[in-house]
Amino acid sequence: NSKNEKSTNSKVDQLRDHTTDNTGEMLTTNQGLKINNNQDSLRSGERGPSLLEDFILREKITHFDHERIPERIVHARGSGAHGVFKINKSLAKYTKANFLSEEGKETPVFVRFSTVAGSAGSTDLARDVRGFAIKFYTEEGNYDLVGNNIPVFFIQDAMKFPDLVHAVKPEPDNAIPQAASAHDTFWDFISLMPESMHMIMWAMSDRAIPRSYRMMEGFGVHTFKFINEEGKMHFVKFHFKPKLGVHSVAWDEATKISGKDSDFHRRDLWEAIENGAFPEWDFGVQIIPEEDEHKFDFDLLDPTKLIPEEEVPVELVGTLTLNRNPDNFFAETEQIAFHPGHLVPGIDFTNDPLLQGRLFSYTDTQLSRLGSPNFHEIPINRSINTVHNNQRDGHMRQQIVKGKVSYEPNTIGGGCPFQAMMKEGGFTSQEERVDGQKIRARSQSFVDHYSQAKLFYNSQSEPEKTHLQNALIFELSKVTIPAIRERVVGQLNFINKELASLVAKKVGVDVTKLQQPNGSIPADADPK
Ligand code: HEM
Repeated sequence: NSKNEKSTNSKVDQLRDHTTDNTGEMLTTNQGLKINNNQDSLRSGERGPSLLEDFILREKITHFDHERIPERIVHARGSGAHGVFKINKSLAKYTKANFLSEEGKETPVFVRFSTVAGSAGSTDLARDVRGFAIKFYTEEGNYDLVGNNIPVFFIQDAMKFPDLVHAVKPEPDNAIPQAASAHDTFWDFISLMPESMHMIMWAMSDRAIPRSYRMMEGFGVHTFKFINEEGKMHFVKFHFKPKLGVHSVAWDEATKISGKDSDFHRRDLWEAIENGAFPEWDFGVQIIPEEDEHKFDFDLLDPTKLIPEEEVPVELVGTLTLNRNPDNFFAETEQIAFHPGHLVPGIDFTNDPLLQGRLFSYTDTQLSRLGSPNFHEIPINRSINTVHNNQRDGHMRQQIVKGKVSYEPNTIGGGCPFQAMMKEGGFTSQEERVDGQKIRARSQSFVDHYSQAKLFYNSQSEPEKTHLQNALIFELSKVTIPAIRERVVGQLNFINKELASLVAKKVGVDVTKLQQPNGSIPADADPK
């Protein structure tokens, strides 16, 4: 079994210490006691009741009773694989991140793809955004790029995320629909949220029904920061471009596949890797010098905007290859915990108000999903460098830290780690002047919701436009409340008049009497 041989992947080697192969072994209890009857419980007489003292039955059933953990609140349905990230062209000019600056350097990764809205058992082919989350096991610690296959997002501020998710998730009374698709609550919310219209164009396009995980792009979405050795900052957008090209299925294909094989994407990824057809992506960056921050006609901090590649080309500098399936779905794919706040020196956040909220959310949710503050010790989540700190105790603690002292500073020593000197590296937040009135409001620079929606719609070929129109017609025709349909068509009218009229006609909306959401259309919106 090639999976048991020493690999060149340091993360895979680390996992091997935690991996068991039960082939040919004798059954034992969790205490290592050999079991010689796994068929019958202990009972009082052949036809009598079972005995409470049957600790073997009790252990087996108790463990079974607790097998399930909560699924992810979003992105519950997913599939993952191990792989390697190689940097082909050094980015040292922009970032001191070790794994990006040494040409030819290879870093182990685990990637998890997902749908967003459906439950863990829902179909892979739902019309939905796909997650594209990468954990880089770098020598400087874990770096997570928790991205999507669409380069923009529905909302501009984390404050709206629970509302968005409650609107897209199954309705609370009847838990329908299980996966993202047409329903009143989603379109009600969208009709009142003009900032979502750019993302809606993408979500109604073929991008939202990929042919395969191997044929999707990946995007970091937010603008991030690179910091180099001299402390100079550049803004950066992250891209992954599939070597197989971007491919989608048509909606009628998607619905048929969903009926026949709801594991279609999971199976496709698994089989490709088993057969040695390793999925590959080019890794690219869009770099923006600090001084160019305000030269765009949108705000770099606004996650509903992308930077057109015509304005800032994507420079391809690396390769991501997935080359090994997990040994155990639960232990690896399910227990992996990504977090946009897992950073390495040389990469930093921006003040994007969506990203800022995410920084709180992931660890918080993982505390309840994985059940203990020690989830970083689960093998798939461990960094490849050893962790040393004064945190201690908590449920399910694995590491046995020697010594008398777990505080710092101290004079006793005794096994206590000490902080690095500045010159010895470590993480430093990029210094930034922050000066302002404490205020709960949206920046005026976030107000244009339609220009890039238009840009996307106009970029579509005629067949792609037809698919997008049909998707909107299908979705809105399932919405039971006429006022919601009207409001959505009203929003479409700000993107493209023909699109709005065409959809309106098919879903029974009178375009001449379009009802606009109260106050939600910016005064400067251009209804052309
Ligand atoms: C998963 C929150 C926006 C990509 C999650 C999870 C939460 C969450 C709670 C479940 C994590 C877990 O159980 O391990 C949020 C919040 C957001 C937000 C509060 C906005 C304020 C985004 C955006 C993206 C994104 C903009 C893409 C750039 C993902 C991905 C996963 C995920 C890919 C799945 C990770 C995995 O495969 O385990 N998010 N999210 N999220 N989120 Fe977000």
